[in-house]
Amino acid sequence: MASVYGFLTCLLLLLWNTNPAFGLSRTQAGRQPSPRAENLRPRRDVWANYQAMYPTAATSGAHQHNIYGTSANFSIFNVLDFGAVGDGKTDDFKAFQNALNAAATGGIVFVPPGQFAFLQNSTLTVPRGATLQGTYSTVPSHGVHDGSKPDVGSVLLPSGGRGSEDGCFIELSEDTTVAGLTIFYPDQLPQQVPQPYPWSLCLHGNNAAVTDIECLNCWNAVRAVAAARHYIARIQGQPINTGIYVDETYDIGRVEDVHWNPWYASDVTFMSWQLLHGRAFVFARTDWEYVLNTFAFGYAIGYHFIASKEGSCNGNFLGIGADMAANASVQVDASDPMGILITNGEFTAFVDPQFGTQYADSTQVVITAANKGAVSFSNSAFWGPANQIAKISGSGTTSFADCIFNKWDHDKKGNSAIEVENATGSLLVRGCDFQYPASQVDLGSTLKKAVITGNIISGSTNITGKALNTQIGMNADDNPS
Ligand SMILES: *[C@@H]1O[C@H](CO)[C@@H](O)[C@H](O)[C@H]1NC(C)=O
Ligand SMILES: *[C@@H]1O[C@H](CO)[C@@H](O)[C@H](O)[C@H]1NC(C)=O
Ligand SMILES: *[C@@H]1O[C@H](CO)[C@@H](O)[C@H](O)[C@H]1NC(C)=O
Ligand SMILES: *[C@@H]1O[C@H](CO)[C@@H](O)[C@H](O)[C@H]1NC(C)=O
Ligand SMILES: *[C@@H]1O[C@H](CO)[C@@H](O)[C@H](O)[C@H]1NC(C)=O
Repeated sequence: MASVYGFLTCLLLLLWNTNPAFGLSRTQAGRQPSPRAENLRPRRDVWANYQAMYPTAATSGAHQHNIYGTSANFSIFNVLDFGAVGDGKTDDFKAFQNALNAAATGGIVFVPPGQFAFLQNSTLTVPRGATLQGTYSTVPSHGVHDGSKPDVGSVLLPSGGRGSEDGCFIELSEDTTVAGLTIFYPDQLPQQVPQPYPWSLCLHGNNAAVTDIECLNCWNAVRAVAAARHYIARIQGQPINTGIYVDETYDIGRVEDVHWNPWYASDVTFMSWQLLHGRAFVFARTDWEYVLNTFAFGYAIGYHFIASKEGSCNGNFLGIGADMAANASVQVDASDPMGILITNGEFTAFVDPQFGTQYADSTQVVITAANKGAVSFSNSAFWGPANQIAKISGSGTTSFADCIFNKWDHDKKGNSAIEVENATGSLLVRGCDFQYPASQVDLGSTLKKAVITGNIISGSTNITGKALNTQIGMNADDNPS
């Protein structure tokens, strides 16, 4: 019996992995709602247990608990002690803000399990030195496609500010942290055109950090502007319009272990909007940004590099991925001369036809006319069904080294994998594997320098166009040498 179940499980996993639409329709269809206590109430016994973990804990005043002994002034403030209700209905803004103010000298505001409503268009301000801490010590994810609210752990339910993305739900200043909770917008409905809300988490000032947070259906999830050494780690969910936005950061910011996936809505109306407009990661001016282990499914653009009035980005992107990017997995409108270094990337660009955005010209890498900086891909894999691997304009240097190009020319227009359009910079393609039997490179006529060497080619070599100085050699295709 066990082996039969094992076999069936393998079969299911196989179906799950090989059919891109399978995961979506499954969640829409027969998902069993888990048994849930509606309007889960906050539990004071959790707080009591927490105190019990620290036998030397002393209590000074109703709201202050020195848990590491009396000599260290290290305090935890429970939002319940400040009047928070957590019944999913009562506005808990004042209680949260008062608890945060109490922690202004450095302390933790603890959010027990419960559904905490924020009914107004108001901004919770985390003062310098404070941490807003929920129950999770690693990031949760809830699939609630039936429209119900997440029912475990610390859940914040903002509903104010609907209709405009101006403003912030939670603002973090210097040396602050928000961690261990879920943010869920109860009025953002999964089967309608998504509506704007203010940014969920705004980082501003040095060393602001958000960790272990689920942005389940945020409009715009995390904004780090003028946020030197921002730390954004272990964040999951389905932000609809923008996942992470970074600008004006002049000392190294970090983004790690972020996973955006349609856990909230995979409905056609909702997803069609997200696939046409949504952007998972957006980088404007940031110096030496470090981005590690990130993934996004189902956006117009996976990684978008833009210019703001402050400038553009240079940085290190390691182990990044974008699946079902409708327009582009990576789009570079601007980058710094020192460049965007992408290593071990995994990218697919396409649109599942059920979402109706077939007119999108799905391309893995789009570099537009204004870009001047270097864009370098190494040891990265690109697979489709995309129209193209790369469309390259601008005056920078673009390079692909040890990359795998699996599928392109989906619309059968005779597109080359890499197509240069009016670019006046340089192109390097070295040691790559062109796995699909269609044209490889069209160099156009405006490039300064092109080097295409040491590649493996499926079918016959077809490299068209030429640069001022073109070097092509030592490529092996399926024809005998
Ligand atoms: C703890 O903080 C209180 C209030 O800010 C202060 O009066 C007290 O001296 C501090 N205790 C220690 C040991 O630092
Ligand atoms: C919400 O508040 C912000 C200011 O924080 C404001 O700019 C925005 O227009 C407000 N949104 C709505 C819908 O009133
Ligand atoms: C994606 O491409 C479509 C079609 O060209 C365009 O209308 C849309 O604005 C693009 N989305 C983004 C985020 O650039
Ligand atoms: C390239 O230049 C031609 C002629 O100026 C123009 O029509 C076309 O839109 C340009 N393509 C891009 C991608 O900039
Ligand atoms: C080579 O590629 C070009 C497009 O860049 C295409 O027009 C041409 O038909 C291709 N030649 C062969 C033999 O496939």
